[in-house]
Amino acid sequence: MKVTATAPSNIAFIKYWGKKDETLRLPENASISMNLSNMNTITTVEFSGKYKKDSVIINNKRNKKDKERVIKHLNRIRKISGIKEKAKVVSETRFSIGTGSSSSAAGFAALSLAGVKAADFDMSEKNLSILARQGSGSACRSIPDGFVEWLKGKNSKTSYSYSLYPASYWNILDIVAVVNKKKKEIKSTKGMKNAKTSSFYKTRLKRINSKIKFLKLFIKNKDFVSFGHLIEAEALELHSIMLTCNPYLMYWLPNTVLLMHLVRLWRKEFPVYFTINTGQDIHIIVEEKNKDKLLNKLKKVKEIKHIFINKPSKGARLIKNHLF
Ligand code: PMV
Repeated sequence: MKVTATAPSNIAFIKYWGKKDETLRLPENASISMNLSNMNTITTVEFSGKYKKDSVIINNKRNKKDKERVIKHLNRIRKISGIKEKAKVVSETRFSIGTGSSSSAAGFAALSLAGVKAADFDMSEKNLSILARQGSGSACRSIPDGFVEWLKGKNSKTSYSYSLYPASYWNILDIVAVVNKKKKEIKSTKGMKNAKTSSFYKTRLKRINSKIKFLKLFIKNKDFVSFGHLIEAEALELHSIMLTCNPYLMYWLPNTVLLMHLVRLWRKEFPVYFTINTGQDIHIIVEEKNKDKLLNKLKKVKEIKHIFINKPSKGARLIKNHLF
């Protein structure tokens, strides 16, 4: 059967950084995110006896490393569903891959949903998120709708994501300012392995549950200023861990730092905050009512190569238009 799914990328407000189980991708801490309406992946999967081997085409290219990771995921789907046939996978991501925009989150969420349905297998949202998590940790947060929490869990069955609130709950935006289209040098998977070498990592883990409690309260109350302060401090804490591990990681480029300063300056006029993942691009979070104010400011920054305007979005879902 041929099935197509689309899934959003997501931006973490409380970040996932560090695994307690590498193979199962079990996180050291819980995390909280929002799905992004304008950064999606579309994936078509077909299992069929006519295919002699698995084939994987991502953005019109065949890449050996990506293929291996996708085939591993197809094998998980084959194991769960009992299907034996080989598959053809075609995937399109319409935003820069590997620059810290969590393209693997969108990719593995779409692949999980399309793959399971193409194998004619039924799965709950919870189990789909457990499956997606094994492809890429943050992908489990792209399965449910809107604002999402990924529970740390004690084992594979208890580490999954669920929706805290639907996309329509809160009119906030994530405006991503792309400052460089170059791929990041160190992928999250590799970067995370060294988290423990930072002497601040233990302290982070000790405080993270209380941070999560506060963040959930601020989202519940739609208290944008408290929310913004917390997520910006959280992003800076994540990057402090990266900067103090061995060997250290520095994802920021000069223009990333320029934008961090500008956001702080603009904050004198209206509430606006930033967060950053493993990449040079900056996610600027603003209430929808201040969208035009922010866009007017961004227009004047010549260092920005591209912007994506994201509303909160639904999670992974099936669509009718196949890619092949
Ligand atoms: O799931 P990965 O391997 O793409 O790691 C995601 C890491 C961060 O983006 C920095 C944080 C997060 O929770 O998304």
